[in-house]
Amino acid sequence: MLARRPGSATQRAVRMNAVQALSEHHDPARAVGQLEAERRAGNLVDGFGRRFYYLRLSVTEVCNFRCSYCLPDGFLKTAPLSFLGIEEIARLTRAFALLGVAKVRLTGGEPTVRGDIGEIIARVAATPGIDKVAMTTNGWNLHRHVAAWRAAGLTNLNISIDDLDAATFAAITGHDRLDQVVAGLDAALALGMRAVKVNAVLLKASVPESFDRFAAFVKARPIAVRFIELMRTGDNVDYFAANHVSGAVLKAWLEARGWSARPRAFDDGPAIEYEHPDYVGRIGLIAPYGAGFCDSCNRLRVTARGKLRLCLFGEGGVDLRDLLTDDQPGAVVARVTAALVGKSAGHRLHEGHSGDTRHLAQLGG
Ligand code: 5AD
Ligand code: SF4
Repeated sequence: MLARRPGSATQRAVRMNAVQALSEHHDPARAVGQLEAERRAGNLVDGFGRRFYYLRLSVTEVCNFRCSYCLPDGFLKTAPLSFLGIEEIARLTRAFALLGVAKVRLTGGEPTVRGDIGEIIARVAATPGIDKVAMTTNGWNLHRHVAAWRAAGLTNLNISIDDLDAATFAAITGHDRLDQVVAGLDAALALGMRAVKVNAVLLKASVPESFDRFAAFVKARPIAVRFIELMRTGDNVDYFAANHVSGAVLKAWLEARGWSARPRAFDDGPAIEYEHPDYVGRIGLIAPYGAGFCDSCNRLRVTARGKLRLCLFGEGGVDLRDLLTDDQPGAVVARVTAALVGKSAGHRLHEGHSGDTRHLAQLGG
């Protein structure tokens, strides 16, 4: 496990080596050919030896849902909506691909409120080096568009469904659309996506009934449902106190019913998934408050306004947008590589510290 604050001699040595390795790569004028070679060597590594193959790119802060833990009053415009345009997204993706990133997840807000989301998918999918294009959506218009997005190059889909009881779903999201979302999910499955997953936020009020409902749901569907422990953000402090329940409750429920944790693949990220011989699908747990959560961090984030965020619960961010006005991937690569040196070992949620994250719609979960 990584220490929260690196202190030991070994940790310092690992960090120094990584810092040295990184500082040799700082010439923004490096040729694309050289960057390609570095990409193959996998050069996106932080001071703790973690490698980053995965970029989560928010394409909008806007969302049309009002999830009780995220945007209970709906999306409120507090600044002009000037989000990355299609060319900026294409340039950014190219630079990250040169850094070794092979997977891009489009998030928001709700990415599908953008009219050009199909085109965004196509441009990201066409970037050399990117072999997975994923999207996280609340599923509101999936049933209408998923076939077109699949054709544009979407390979992986995560759909947020917090409960399979229609009334509870409506109460949480502010939209009575569970059937529509499930129809979209089934349409996605029929298209042969590489993976379809469901995200469900673990909420005290629906435990354990929602576990029964989701188990029945995955009985014959080849999907993974992953419960996410409710995270405390700047805006949901009271809600968190009333609704947070530890992932240990789910773990105990699964283990009592013969589910077993599957071995993790190297690029799995922080979810632990359970399987059962009588069920086609899997049930997983994402427990950000659990021990070792940050050790498997394999992702970087860029906000819809073009800021690199090293941690979901960090502060500030490194602006990349000024480098996206024309094609200069070397400069983006240099800035990202330099910034990564500052990525800390772990978040400080345990200490009630959510960085400057007010809610997750701000930068995609
Ligand atoms: N805690 C846990 N999960 C959250 N999400 C949004 N806000 C929170 C929070 N405070 C989830 C959404 C979606 C994913 C992107 O993040 O429900 O599934
Ligand atoms: Fe929208 Fe996702 Fe936040 Fe719900 S959790 S309000 S779907 S951004």
